[in-house]
Amino acid sequence: MLDSVYIHVPWCAARCPYCSFNVYVDRDPPYGRWAEGVLRDWHNLPPPVAPLRSVYFGGGTPSLAPPQLLAGILDTLQPPDAAEITLEANPATITPDRMDAFRAAGINRVSVGVQTFSPRSARLLSRGHTVHAARELVSMVATGGFRSWSVDIIFALPGQTLDELRADLDAILVTAPPHVSLYGLTIKEGTPFERAHRQGRLVLPDADAWRAQYDLIVETLAAAGLERYEVSSFARPGHRAVHNEATWRGGHYAGLGPGAHGFLPDGRRTKMHDALTEWLADPAGISERPDPWQAAVDHLLSTLRHIDGTDQDDLIARTGYRIRSEVVAELIDGSLLQRDGSHLRLTPSGWPLADGITWRLCEALVRSSPLHRGSA
Ligand SMILES: C[S@@+](CC[C@H](N)C(=O)[O-])C[C@H]1O[C@@H](n2cnc3c(N)ncnc32)[C@H](O)[C@@H]1O
Ligand code: SF4
Repeated sequence: MLDSVYIHVPWCAARCPYCSFNVYVDRDPPYGRWAEGVLRDWHNLPPPVAPLRSVYFGGGTPSLAPPQLLAGILDTLQPPDAAEITLEANPATITPDRMDAFRAAGINRVSVGVQTFSPRSARLLSRGHTVHAARELVSMVATGGFRSWSVDIIFALPGQTLDELRADLDAILVTAPPHVSLYGLTIKEGTPFERAHRQGRLVLPDADAWRAQYDLIVETLAAAGLERYEVSSFARPGHRAVHNEATWRGGHYAGLGPGAHGFLPDGRRTKMHDALTEWLADPAGISERPDPWQAAVDHLLSTLRHIDGTDQDDLIARTGYRIRSEVVAELIDGSLLQRDGSHLRLTPSGWPLADGITWRLCEALVRSSPLHRGSA
């Protein structure tokens, strides 16, 4: 069922040196043409689109876009009142008036890109805003009458100590967020951070330091009532992100806007062209139906990161592939996975190693014979 929509807004005030998202810096972005293109993408979707559960404006910096254009898009998409409508927002892009306008446009959840409350780390990340502006936006959003909200934080920064991370976590928790996403800094190809890393000017924490930071995050947030429901995502009861839940449980979603990815109920993966002109010129974008092995890999990559884990019966039913039982047994013996019926879930010691475990399972995919069906 197609009930989630991701809409990419590709402009930012400046490009952060660690970021490899599909982002452009333009003094006067053509938001009007973008909105027309988004609606064209929407009308090109194969019916039926079920009543929407989630619309997610991600970026880029969607909070720079004119609220009335987002209102126009939502008027066409017609999400029901119960749907979650998220806007990613950067500090220093929203005044109280603009925030009211976004709420009036239909936004009911805001995800604030704080990244850090430490002035030293903010300088290192070259964020185009001050820590003060991040605090201001968080308090505006927290008291802004939204149904839910979230903050994004980056950890495992060069030179970051456990005490500095603890201070960041304390600063987050003072604001009592219903949802937090915490990402370890990743060096992305083609970014200034990659060059600095290659030249030895940027040194990341080693695996033990990364692990100590992740453990501190999980402990601190659990004590504050925020449950880890995905490797990087923590929520109070009732505040998991609906869009993320759909993608991590193997659900379908439409991707509208330049560079957006989608996964359609007919099994197709879609990817719109990155550049605005190419995207506008070619509405079809790139669309392919992965072969069964690739579909199995995609399914493992998205589901194992989630607290519900991977349902092996579902994997077989969707793709015809199963995971070799001796590899599953080995990971269970090593206390990295646990089995619950047909579900495989990460254990407390498995969570920090989610990526490696997922690849181990991908390597152990084999075609399922009829004997294995329903008895994974
Ligand atoms: C799609 S980005 C956009 C959010 C928003 N534009 C911002 O920067 O505040 C979503 C999140 O990805 C995370 N992110 C981006 N690049 C990253 C990197 N290289 N390593 C780790 N996290 C990253 C940041 O936490 C960011 O808030
Ligand atoms: S503001 Fe966000 S999306 Fe834009 S360049 Fe920075 S990290 Fe990337």
